[in-house]
Amino acid sequence: MANSADLTVDGKTYSFPTLEGTENEKAFDISNLRDQTGYVTLDRGYKNTGATKSAITFLDGEKGILQYRGYSIEDLAAKASFLGVAYLLIYGELPTQTQYDKFESDIRHHTMVNEDMRKIFDGFPVDAHPMGVLSSLVSAMSAFYPDVNDEDNTDLHIIRLLAKLPTIATWSYKRSKGHPMNYPQNKLDYIQNFLNMMFALPVEDYTVDPVVVEALNVLLILHADHEQNCSTSTVRLVGSSQANIYSSISAGVSALWGPLHGGANQEVIEMLENIKADGGDVSKYVEMAKNAKSTGFRLYGFGHRVYKNFDPRAKIIKKAADDVLSKLGVNDPILDIAKGLEEAALNDDYFVSRKLYPNVDFYSGIIYRALGIPTNMFTVMFAIGRLPGWIAQWKEMRENKEPIGRPRQIYTGPTHREFVPVEKR
Ligand code: ACO
Repeated sequence: MANSADLTVDGKTYSFPTLEGTENEKAFDISNLRDQTGYVTLDRGYKNTGATKSAITFLDGEKGILQYRGYSIEDLAAKASFLGVAYLLIYGELPTQTQYDKFESDIRHHTMVNEDMRKIFDGFPVDAHPMGVLSSLVSAMSAFYPDVNDEDNTDLHIIRLLAKLPTIATWSYKRSKGHPMNYPQNKLDYIQNFLNMMFALPVEDYTVDPVVVEALNVLLILHADHEQNCSTSTVRLVGSSQANIYSSISAGVSALWGPLHGGANQEVIEMLENIKADGGDVSKYVEMAKNAKSTGFRLYGFGHRVYKNFDPRAKIIKKAADDVLSKLGVNDPILDIAKGLEEAALNDDYFVSRKLYPNVDFYSGIIYRALGIPTNMFTVMFAIGRLPGWIAQWKEMRENKEPIGRPRQIYTGPTHREFVPVEKR
């Protein structure tokens, strides 16, 4: 039968429909598998499982293609603004000038954070990791907006999240430095405002460097969405229980923090620093990574679940790292170590045969460092970039009225046992 797949199990054959996405991705629809056959699937790490249909982001890991709503990442990085891309992801189309002006102005006028929320910062230790603070404060936002479950106000919650995340992020940094927190300023645009809150001090003038603004614009666009990755799937899963948007995004921040996901950008720089301190011999580290099972060492910034040729974002970022460092006149030996490591790994059969290439996190930290952003803020930068994607995916999931996410399992524990009283154990 056309457009169906047959499965024979326990002597019976069952038919399942197949489906195809707009970019010809093929899938078996097994929604009724358990009902029909009594079997479930086992797919640890969801390597083959499509959790949803989505019209937001397309990527082809074999060809190295990434598109938001049909627009290629290369075009968007070269021609769009971060907020324009945010609008595209969330609302499906590039904004007209009028739509953009309203969106930008709404965000500009919601950047202030409730003063009571500001007091929460005082309860954290000064050396708290800013990702922990960010996740907590985003979750706390739900307490400050009791209308959070009113679906008519979703657009306003979206504006609040986009507007306040940079304020919260920079305040966590300022507190860790023991510096006064800077308030947002309506005369500044999104990226200028972030930089001003991050770097301005009351004792001297701070001027936003347009080279830095442009570099951040590109980096944020490259991070803005990546279909059903770990943090986005987390946002969708949490939201599928009808948890509010702030709680769902807060869960996404926590998922992003892990070193196998967004936390890799911090790990990369720490790894490159270690290599430098150890004399700069990249081959030693390539060998350690090849023996990951005994050394426990991975090359952070290398490998990707879906990209098996190259990560198109890494290509853009590598070039941007060269451009930004030269425009800013920064000579960072870490960049040479990164390039040496990449070359050594790409010529090594271990990495070639496993299709391990630099990912988006491999060079992004080098740019952040050149822009003056401290290492423990790298993953926070990723979160600011990824926010529009999380929002778009949360909104799509709710609008499509997706059911609650609830995987099955294969139970491997003891079968039924009689209870043993404590004196007989
Ligand atoms: N260094 C050394 N070996 C690696 C690396 C690495 N960075 N990544 C994968 N491998 C090896 C594994 O040991 C495994 O080898 P084996 O077949 O001999 O057992 C093989 O390559 C396949 O690796 P998996 O872990 O099965 O691949 P998976 O798709 O599950 O993992 C991941 C992808 C988590 C990104 C992995 O490549 C990794 O840990 N990379 C380093 C962390 C990192 O940079 N994460 C950021 C990813 S991008 C992002 O989230 C924004």
